[in-house]
Amino acid sequence: MTFKFWKVEREASGLAWAILDCPGQSTNALSAAVMEELGTLLDQLDSTPPKGLIFKSGKTAGFIAGADIGEFSALDTAEKGRSLVARGWHLFNRLAALPYPTLALIRGHCLGGGLELSLACRYRIAVDEPGTRLGLPEVLLGIVPGWGGMLRLPQVAGPQVALDMMLTGKTVDGKKAARLGVVDLCVPPRIMEAAARGLVLSGQAPTRAKGIKGILNLPVLRGVVASGARKQVARKASREHYPAPYAIIELWEKHGGNALAAPELIDGLIASPTAANLLRVFHLQERLKGFGKESDFQIRHVHVIGAGVMGADIAAVCVQRGLTVTLQDQSLERIAAAISRLAPGLERRYRDKLQLRGAFDRLIPDVAGDGAVRADVVIEAIFEDLTAKRSLLASVEQRMRPDAVLGTNTSSLRIEDLRSVLERPSRLVGIHFFNPVPKMPLVEVVATEGCDDVMMARAFAFVRRIEKLPLPVNSAPGFLVNAVLAPYMLEAMRCVDEGVRSEIIDQCMRDFGMPLGPIELADTVGLDIAVAAGRQLAATADPPKCLLERVARGDLGRKTGRGFYTYVNGKAQKGEAGSAPEGLSQRLVSPIIHTTEAIVALGIVADADLADAGVIFGTGFAPFRGGPMQFSRSQNS
Ligand code: NAI
Repeated sequence: MTFKFWKVEREASGLAWAILDCPGQSTNALSAAVMEELGTLLDQLDSTPPKGLIFKSGKTAGFIAGADIGEFSALDTAEKGRSLVARGWHLFNRLAALPYPTLALIRGHCLGGGLELSLACRYRIAVDEPGTRLGLPEVLLGIVPGWGGMLRLPQVAGPQVALDMMLTGKTVDGKKAARLGVVDLCVPPRIMEAAARGLVLSGQAPTRAKGIKGILNLPVLRGVVASGARKQVARKASREHYPAPYAIIELWEKHGGNALAAPELIDGLIASPTAANLLRVFHLQERLKGFGKESDFQIRHVHVIGAGVMGADIAAVCVQRGLTVTLQDQSLERIAAAISRLAPGLERRYRDKLQLRGAFDRLIPDVAGDGAVRADVVIEAIFEDLTAKRSLLASVEQRMRPDAVLGTNTSSLRIEDLRSVLERPSRLVGIHFFNPVPKMPLVEVVATEGCDDVMMARAFAFVRRIEKLPLPVNSAPGFLVNAVLAPYMLEAMRCVDEGVRSEIIDQCMRDFGMPLGPIELADTVGLDIAVAAGRQLAATADPPKCLLERVARGDLGRKTGRGFYTYVNGKAQKGEAGSAPEGLSQRLVSPIIHTTEAIVALGIVADADLADAGVIFGTGFAPFRGGPMQFSRSQNS
């Protein structure tokens, strides 16, 4: 039997393999056409049922990435939403009810609808490989796993594990999936097919969550689990802004995970702007990822100069992505201090002793800077001082390979001023990371007049290689992200000057959807840095009095233990927030919107969508609002 997307191979033993290989796509997705063809495939098997049916992917890149995201984006009416849910729910119920045993052989990513298909099989085997990840990330797009995930994941893994996965969207690797009961087995690649043949014909009862894990699925106990889960969600996301996690809990608790039993919940998700905006953010993220694809530059070795706050973290992220890093600073003591600061993070990441050893072996102290000679990428992250940076860049250029990328992490110096000392000025690229590097997904890749396009493309490829999101920006003070944040923080401080308490301001912007309020952000960045940024980026306005007073007293924020807040063990001591004055959030968001608009108008960022992407991934701007430009459009429509 051959179809467009599926292929069925029958073995003499009576076993059949259903192999999914979507033509013309790098990964498999469950589009309407793929699902319809699966239905036809099952019809055909009905006439001569196999002894067992094993699903696998015909692609090297993963099992199934999920449903077809493009089809979600087209869901503009409640009817379309319901019929999309019904399609998968009924088909996978049919799969679960087949009279012969079924198995999903999961190698590579198995997400969303892909995991729901697997859960509808009687058995699941995950292949122990770095790329194998299983999860139900629908919530991150503002929707719910409506094709049986909410029904079946709690049955196999217990409701606590299942809700945790569904409410956070996090994925697990093959071994963890086996430990949690999400799959029956996790096996090495060389025995995967034999293991699949053995298990599908084993006659074993399907796995079910046992003991207390299973008991919590009983309708009488669901309420207890659900109310705990609701409390946990409420700490992170309000129902008004993020309805999907609340819908997941309710659908599991009251309807056994059947979204069709509560269509009003699906209608609500489709009608709320959150799902549309989160889908928009997903597409923006894909667009940023695309910037790394133009170059096939191979990166193995990165040389980082400056083992301070930024350089050390950049080195750690590179090491964690498997790269070799030589780390240079003025003395071995400084490098040693940086490595001991990084050690706990690496130890947390690599539980396996051999892997941890490998990571430390890849992080090489290099006072003499010899690594620059061999490196594919050299990143300068020393003090923000023009003379020091210029002399360093001029000498490092002499030692580097001509094809290697030379990047600077400067925040506020002009790339034009830095590069003028180089023999080949066009090669210098701004590669601007954000603090804390491990957590912040965005990296601004800064182009200057006449810069080398090949080097830009290689810089994008490097940023992707370490799994960050590159945003192309043109050289301008503060690039995009800092230029947007500075006037926002200054406006918040002007409110403090007018007598509004910091707690009220911060709470107001957290309620708007920011991860941190502007005052706590200023304390975190450092108030001395805030003064300098204000001078550079908002030179026309007088600095807020409250800021200058604190800096004069030496209260520089979190790092000195006191700024707008006092810090005890690193935690801000806050009073009650209280109610915000009318219009406060509009007042504080408007500098973000106006600066973003101006940056797009000046061509510093190519278009409004990219600017939204940059502000969301660089500042954490409320993703469910779709970015400042999108938010402004929605306010005016
Ligand atoms: P830092 O002061 O923590 O570290 C700078 C390091 O560079 C020090 O360890 C110092 O010994 C070393 N260094 C100075 N001159 C050197 C030389 N000639 N050769 C080798 N090492 C040398 O500085 P931080 O905060 O890490 O900043 C580094 C760069 O990153 C600056 O350009 C800054 O503007 C930029 N940046 C900083 C951010 C932050 O939040 N700290 C965020 C984004 C960019």
